[in-house]
Amino acid sequence: QEAHASQMERTFIAIKPDGVQRGLISEIISRFERKGFKLVAIKLVVPSKSFAQKHYHDLKERPFFNGLCNFLSFGPVLAMVWEGEGVIRYGRKLIGATDPSKSEPGTIRGDLAVVVGRNIIHGSDGPETAKDEINLWFKPDELTNYTCNQEKWVY
Ligand code: PPS
Repeated sequence: QEAHASQMERTFIAIKPDGVQRGLISEIISRFERKGFKLVAIKLVVPSKSFAQKHYHDLKERPFFNGLCNFLSFGPVLAMVWEGEGVIRYGRKLIGATDPSKSEPGTIRGDLAVVVGRNIIHGSDGPETAKDEINLWFKPDELTNYTCNQEKWVY
C-alpha cells in the first residue's frame, strides 16, 4: 500500500494570479478533488519575475515570454501538487486547450476563461516537466505522504 502510494504519478498545477483574483480557487480544486485525484502539496505564493522566468524557461524564445512572466508575478499563485493514476495527462484534459477560445466546454478554461493571456491555470505537460516543476516550486518536506480514505474506493 505504502509502495503503491509513493509510486503514484504526480503533477504540478498552478492557479495563476487571474484565477486567484477571480475567486476560482475552490471551483478549480473541486474539479480535481471530485475526479478522485489526491492533493499532496499546496501553497499560495507571489513568484518573483526571475522565478517566473525559471518556471517558463522553455518558452524563452517566444514573443509572449516577457508578458507571461510578468503576468505570473502580478500576485498570488496557488501552487499545488496532485497525485493519481494518469494525473499528468488527465489533468491537462481537465484544464482544456491552452487558448480558452478553443477549449471545450466542460474543461476549466472552456468554462471559466476567455483569452490565452488570462487562461487562469497551468499544468505540467509531461513527466519530465512535472518532476522539474514540482522541484522548482516545492521543497521535498512540503510534499505530504498520506493515505487518503477514498483511495481504496477510487482504485
Ligand atoms: S503548450 O501546451 O506548451 O503547447 O502550450 P504553448 O502554446 O506552447 O504555451 C505555453 C505557455 O505559454 C502560454 N501562452 C501564452 N501566453 C500569453 N500570450 C500568448 N499568446 C500565449 N500563447 C501561449 C500558455 O498559456 C502556456 O502557459 P501555461 O502557464 O503553461 O498555461
